[in-house]
Amino acid sequence: MPTTAILGLQWGDEGKGKLVDSISAQQDFCVRFQGGGNAGHTVYPEGGKIVLHHLPTGVLHKDCINVMAQGMVVDPLRLIDEIAEVEGRGFKLDGRLFISDRCSITIPLHLTLDVDREAGEKANQIGTTKRGIGPTYADRYDRVGVRAADLLDETSLREALQRAVNVRACQTDGNAPGVDDMLKPLLDVGRKLKGYITDTSLLLAESMKEDKHILFEGAQGAMLDVSQGTYPYVTSSHTTAAGIPSGVGLALMVDKLIGVTKAYCTRVGEGPFPTELNDDIGAKLREAGGEFGATTGRPRRCGWIDLFALRYVCRTSGITHLAITKLDVLSGFEKIKVGVGYEGYDAPGMPADIRRFSALKPKYESLPGWKEDIGSVRDAADLPANARTYLRYLEDFVGVPIGIVSVGPAREASFETHGAPKD
Ligand code: IMP
Repeated sequence: MPTTAILGLQWGDEGKGKLVDSISAQQDFCVRFQGGGNAGHTVYPEGGKIVLHHLPTGVLHKDCINVMAQGMVVDPLRLIDEIAEVEGRGFKLDGRLFISDRCSITIPLHLTLDVDREAGEKANQIGTTKRGIGPTYADRYDRVGVRAADLLDETSLREALQRAVNVRACQTDGNAPGVDDMLKPLLDVGRKLKGYITDTSLLLAESMKEDKHILFEGAQGAMLDVSQGTYPYVTSSHTTAAGIPSGVGLALMVDKLIGVTKAYCTRVGEGPFPTELNDDIGAKLREAGGEFGATTGRPRRCGWIDLFALRYVCRTSGITHLAITKLDVLSGFEKIKVGVGYEGYDAPGMPADIRRFSALKPKYESLPGWKEDIGSVRDAADLPANARTYLRYLEDFVGVPIGIVSVGPAREASFETHGAPKD
């Protein structure tokens, strides 16, 4: 298929990075279309672990061209360090990385705004990654944002910074950096990034005409989408498939949409999580799954998988294939529960009102667990019978075929399957 997307279906951290890493080996392009340095895609190329924040995961494959498209927000001072780290590990990016001239730029003022808000009244806290994501998108939509193209011209940059300061500085505690504090470092970094900044929408349109294989790499997850997710406890971008066309600047339909879900569920930050487990089982999942944030190191909240929510987001994103990650983490549980709905709730979708969402009490189905360590399994048919039953139940409930199963962090621990294994 010429165009494929890999999208998170929960609240992020589903293990997308690892799948993008294996799939991008066969792709001509790997494209990030939303979010920014809030993402933390952990991959294990030969020679150790790398956590990518801004850069598309295809940077780790030498024949893959990488695009940071216009829907992204970019903190150039952090990006430059990330580029240096990846190049230092032997993955040269010259001619292989393109940044849209329309990306929004996170400036130090945005970091101040994000940190101040998170330190303020509890009722206003989202539990953000403090990477300035919300304020950067807010400035984009308020039309006072700095864009990547502005980094390349001193007059444009000064004017753009001045607009942002005029509108936003009054929202800080007087600790905001001024135009002159921000101008020089941003101009310096603009000089370093110049060779990468271009019209990526044009580049992608031409590549699609040539039938190039293009992979769109989602960050965060559907339940964090700014419109479809648990608003206001969401990120500020469109994380679902609907975000791809505007995020790359092309009215395109993606051929294959792979939705990624863990075999259980996690969340970081504030906001409702109906199947959360504040007990020994939640602690066991955190421990066994190594559930600590890749960007912030925060312990993740853990719980059972919520199939009702999963079915909802598969529908809104038009998911064609499911990828189930971290199935190995469920080994050793006597019973595995799966959320199949909510007490006294009979609507087909998820509530838009956060108070109603927060009041949801899950209804569970209980499935038998398995004891075997499955980390070395490489074919779905070789999974223990109860693990196969679990996958079949999940697939039947959600109504989307399982295409990939992952049982460990290594590249080779993910394998393809044509639907859940039959008995
Ligand atoms: P922001 O994106 O930093 O504004 O944070 C908004 C919400 O999204 C917070 O609950 C974050 O914890 C969450 N979030 C942002 N990026 C990620 C991610 O990559 N994985 C998981 N949660 C994320």
